[in-house]
This record gives sequence, C-alpha cells and structure tokens, in this order.
Amino acid sequence: MKKRHVAIGETIFQVVDEGSGPPILFVHGFPLDHSMWRYQLESFSRHNRVICPDLPGFGQSKTGNSPLSMRSIAENLAQLLDAIAVDEPIVFCGLSMGGYVGWQFWKHHRSKLARLVACNTRAANDSPEVARGRRIAAQSVQKTGNRPVADAMIEKLFYRFDDPAKQHMVDSVDRVIMSTDSDSIARGQIGMAQRPDATRWLESMDLPVLFVVGEHDVITTPEEMKQNATLVPRSRYLAIKNAGHLSPLEQPDEFNRGLREFLDEVA
Ligand code: MLT
Repeated sequence: MKKRHVAIGETIFQVVDEGSGPPILFVHGFPLDHSMWRYQLESFSRHNRVICPDLPGFGQSKTGNSPLSMRSIAENLAQLLDAIAVDEPIVFCGLSMGGYVGWQFWKHHRSKLARLVACNTRAANDSPEVARGRRIAAQSVQKTGNRPVADAMIEKLFYRFDDPAKQHMVDSVDRVIMSTDSDSIARGQIGMAQRPDATRWLESMDLPVLFVVGEHDVITTPEEMKQNATLVPRSRYLAIKNAGHLSPLEQPDEFNRGLREFLDEVA
C-alpha cells in the first residue's frame, strides 16, 4: 500500500492513500493504527480511493503535546483531506474511537461528508465512573508501560481471543498496542473521557449512516448500537456474526460485503 507523510500543524501523519474513485476515509480505534483496516484497504482500493491515516500520536504518526481531543483529531483529518486534495465528499468509516471522531467530523465538517459508517462505536459519552477509570489508566500507563493495557484490551477486542485460529491476528494487534507511544495512550484516554454526548445529534443526521457491530462486542454492544440506529432517519444496521469489537478484522468478508452494499445503495 502506498503511504505518504503529510504535515498538518504539529502532526506528521503517515497515511495510506491508494486507488481512485469515490473516497473512503478509514479511521482506526484506540490504541491501534491503520493496520486494523488491512482487509478493507485491499478490497476497497480496487474501486475507491482509500485514505487511512495513523491518528496523531498513534502508529507512525508523530505529534506534539496538545491535548488529543476527538474534536482536534476531526479538525486534523479535515485538514489532511484538503492537503491531499480530496475534493469530493467522503465516506467516513470510523471504528470505536474512530467513530467518536466521526460524530465530531459530522458536526463540524458536514459538507465534506457523503456517508458515515459507525463501526463498533458509541454515541453516548462516558459515565463519571468510566471517565474516572480512564484518568486513572492514563496515569498508570506512564508508570507501568503498555503491557497491562495490551492484556486488558486484547481480551475485550476479539470474540474468542484465545481461539488458536486467531493467534496470528491477536499477536499482530498486541504488537501494535505494545509499540504505541505510552503518552499517546494516556492522552487518548483523556480525550475520550472528555468527549461530548453525540446521542443528541443522531436524529438530525441528514445523511445515510451505517451502524456495524460485532454480535459479541462487549465494549460497544449490539443493543446500544441498534438503539442508536433507530434514532438516525436514514440508517442501516448490520450485526456481524462471530465477531467482537474488531469486526472489520475478525470477519472481513462479511464486513466488506455489508459496507459495499451500503455504498452501492442509492442515497
Ligand atoms: C476503541 O476501540 O477505540 C476503544 O475501545 C474505545 C474506548 O475505549 O471507548
């Protein structure tokens, strides 16, 4: 895949930019990088321009010390699209933290959007207890390093993470988490803890929105995602079998089929 480096403010993005056709922006979850979308990049780059950055501070994208809010990431992405000359509205496809950024992108850059895909993500913000837990986690990762984060996350990211058939995939995600900058993990936690509630925006979403979830997702549950889908006027809802939180990676064929059908639907 063709990767480029693009400077936006204090961030130097590493971004996959491949293919031509209607553009799709793939935005990864926390604390991951572009590689979680590998099967989508391979498949959709045949008919679309696929743009897939490592978010500021994650993967190979370096950034400065400013807070990593969901809003600031959305702003950076809007600037990135301008910088790489994406001059038509995009499909924004964000998973989990990438979805939190997606709500902000809709709120502040609606004219750059054709469709939104909310994968394994929540619209609600954190309860006070969850936000408190994130602040504690942000402090501890600085002292303990990433191992406890990786262990705790791996169990929740996959459906049946201990299935030997999944070892290769689990190991690759583990390697990504372990090589993520600890400071970015801490700042990402704070940014997510401070995000606003996007539920109130759902009924005014004036574009097609696909909600995709793994049937066994314990982080962003099917019940909650289905409920959110009922609030958006032009929504579709897809629950992927035998998948947890990383549905595009765990079940790429079914995920890609669902996404392609959604893209081919007349708006
Ligand atoms: C993610 O996958 O991006 C995280 O699970 C999001 C979160 O911690 O809320």
